[in-house]
Amino acid sequence: MRLSGRLPWSGETASPLLSLREEREREGKPVLSLVSTDPTSAELGLPWDEIAAPLGDASLWKSYRPDPHGTPAARRALSAFYRKWGEEIDPERIFLSASTSELYSWLFQTLCDPGDAVLVPEPGYPLFEEIAALAAVKTVPAPLAPRSEGGCLKRWACDFAAWSAALRVSRGAARAVVVVAPHNPTGAAPSASEWIRIAEFCRANGLVLVVDEVFRLLADGGEKPACDWGSLGIPVAVLSGLSKWLAGPQLKLSWMRLYGPEDDLRAWNDALEHAADACLNVGGPAQASLGTWLELVPRASALLKSRVERNREAFLATFGPLFPKVRIMSEPAGWYALLRVDGADEEELTLRLLGETGLFVHPGFFYDFDEEGVLVLSLVGEEREFARRAGLLRDWLAKHYF
Ligand SMILES: Cc1ncc(COP(=O)(O)O)c(C=O)c1O
Repeated sequence: MRLSGRLPWSGETASPLLSLREEREREGKPVLSLVSTDPTSAELGLPWDEIAAPLGDASLWKSYRPDPHGTPAARRALSAFYRKWGEEIDPERIFLSASTSELYSWLFQTLCDPGDAVLVPEPGYPLFEEIAALAAVKTVPAPLAPRSEGGCLKRWACDFAAWSAALRVSRGAARAVVVVAPHNPTGAAPSASEWIRIAEFCRANGLVLVVDEVFRLLADGGEKPACDWGSLGIPVAVLSGLSKWLAGPQLKLSWMRLYGPEDDLRAWNDALEHAADACLNVGGPAQASLGTWLELVPRASALLKSRVERNREAFLATFGPLFPKVRIMSEPAGWYALLRVDGADEEELTLRLLGETGLFVHPGFFYDFDEEGVLVLSLVGEEREFARRAGLLRDWLAKHYF
């Protein structure tokens, strides 16, 4: 059978680390994951009764009223929600979808022709390449670089010189740049002046700015708008959803806000309506519940934030007393934490670690880190277990990499 050549992974063999994990699970051996990012298994204490309440009222959703933008009531609820944070958005410029990933598909389909390119953060979450490939679109890395402060890697920031080089490589095929803020897995978030530079970069190169704010509420002061998107004078799509804001990936509801010059928006809006109308994936019960769910967002996201903060403290206490070869790579921000083991082959290390202890961490190359020896840990897991597993990891590293 012949499959589409656009799939970059066709014929690819599974990663040895993921194969080993599967093998251990099949054999009933323990796998102590330090990278789980599934909030539904993290014992966060979410208010499930309140989340379920609107679903019990079928009068809210029993009629089918398809709208490619999503229901007007859900979009009005979103518009009112953002207004509380001082952000204006016309409900007519909002699109609802079943997931943020689906929004990316629509964006890549509507902004690009086959063979065109989008700039995506590197290092970064391994999501964009596959979604782009399915739309026959290429991804070009837009690097983030760690900024040194006093010898200790502190903060990651857009490397604009490398972005310009990436554009040259893409030879005029680039249509958009994706900025994840706060970024996954480095936690980087552009400052006000960096947003202006990003907008200038987009304007100068005819690129649409795609902003992913799914981790916004994990940052201190995340309710404050990062930028006045409407004032940038370029087309901007801002994406978010309940998978992180309500710690509910299974609720399947995300949204996108569009800003920019009116002429651009009209055409883009029409194109997106076509993309959304082709499948109309977002469920009626979820849309009808959105107003109630948005009221629960501050509480749910505070639970997730406090979990991440407590695990961050445990991470710093565990790995802070450094031994020479193992360093905390940067100030943990967002829901991941990064370690660097000097001179280590990260694939060999993570395989040995899993084989000898059952501990499962991600090697940095899953996220396209430039450096060798990077280990990625998630801060979402239940606290006592996170602290125990982090302690086991430290002891194992101390034994082998002191
Ligand atoms: C930066 C980023 N954006 C989007 C997503 C996907 O979100 P959704 O579950 O809404 O598709 C993820 C998943 O972890 C992510 O890390």
